[in-house]
Amino acid sequence: MKHMGIFAGLFAALLFSAAQAADPIVIKFSHVVAPATPKGKAADKFKELAESYTKGVVKVEVYPNSQLYKDREEMEALQLGAVQMLAPSLSKFGPLGVRDFEVFDLPYIFPNKTTLYRVMDGEIGARLFAKLEPKSIKGLAYWDNGFKQMSANKPLKNVEDFKGLKMRIQSSKVLDAQMRALGANPQVMAFSEVYTALQQNVVDGTENPMSNLYTQKMHEVQKHLTLSDHGYLGYAVIVNKAFWDGLSPDIRAQLEKAVKEATAYERQIAQEENDESLAKVKAAGTTEIYILPNEGRAAWHKVLLPVHEQFADVVGRDNIQAIYKIAADVQKEMDAARVKKPAAPKKSPAKKK
Ligand code: LMR
Repeated sequence: MKHMGIFAGLFAALLFSAAQAADPIVIKFSHVVAPATPKGKAADKFKELAESYTKGVVKVEVYPNSQLYKDREEMEALQLGAVQMLAPSLSKFGPLGVRDFEVFDLPYIFPNKTTLYRVMDGEIGARLFAKLEPKSIKGLAYWDNGFKQMSANKPLKNVEDFKGLKMRIQSSKVLDAQMRALGANPQVMAFSEVYTALQQNVVDGTENPMSNLYTQKMHEVQKHLTLSDHGYLGYAVIVNKAFWDGLSPDIRAQLEKAVKEATAYERQIAQEENDESLAKVKAAGTTEIYILPNEGRAAWHKVLLPVHEQFADVVGRDNIQAIYKIAADVQKEMDAARVKKPAAPKKSPAKKK
């Protein structure tokens, strides 16, 4: 009997090393941004964790900077199984026929990141992922980038400054409406083409979080930048569903753990990456930076908020209402925390000796 146990152990060990010796399971992870961005760094972190947790059974190949595919092609490649994993911007699901993701594009819908994370990690996030399954895609997590800023070759202070400008946007009808509300002409364009289009004046300006603007060197070809935080850009980490479902449960569990930890890491670095990029753009001295003051913000709000109602039937009126409710709850909690915070103790006058 004792020998049986030894044989069983040896057999298991042999099986394990045979699995390791066999060809690894390859995950091709394609994305369109630079490696030194929140998404780029998190993709590399996922590779490191996934390969370590599966002891090399899974090999992750990360292809940054649209090396393999541009925005639209990468979605098709995922559905066909030519790549296994992507993290496209939430603004790029419209062409797939899932327009609800564009709720994230509504101008000024997220007053802070606490609200945003509750939306991503709660019912709305799950409901949106469920809509991908009939398209052969499975959603695993939401990654963060940041609030967007406007840039152009002329100052963008007042709404009137946008009149007639050709502004590059991602493939989202909400972003199209946002630019039209400002009086601009939106032009959909793949991310990899934006720098050249700005340089050659094919378009006059664009919007992006600072990490994308800096790593694509857009500041070299944009004389003016307005810190407006008028909208948000985040990502859905998605996989080819058949590939994912075909993995053994233990490998899938290790990969889920890797995604979870890479997500925590990504959200932790997103803000600091954007802050650092802003500092670098300032230091480069090529771009005049304008901070939109409160009065200016109010004027932008006035023309942009009607886009919510305009798109309510497209992105889901219930989704919009649920986000407003989460934002109001978060605000209440923040106010309560401020009231509860004990006042700093008054300094007692120094005792005389
Ligand atoms: C863009 O196209 O501007 C962004 O979606 C790029 C990205 O993936 O952050």
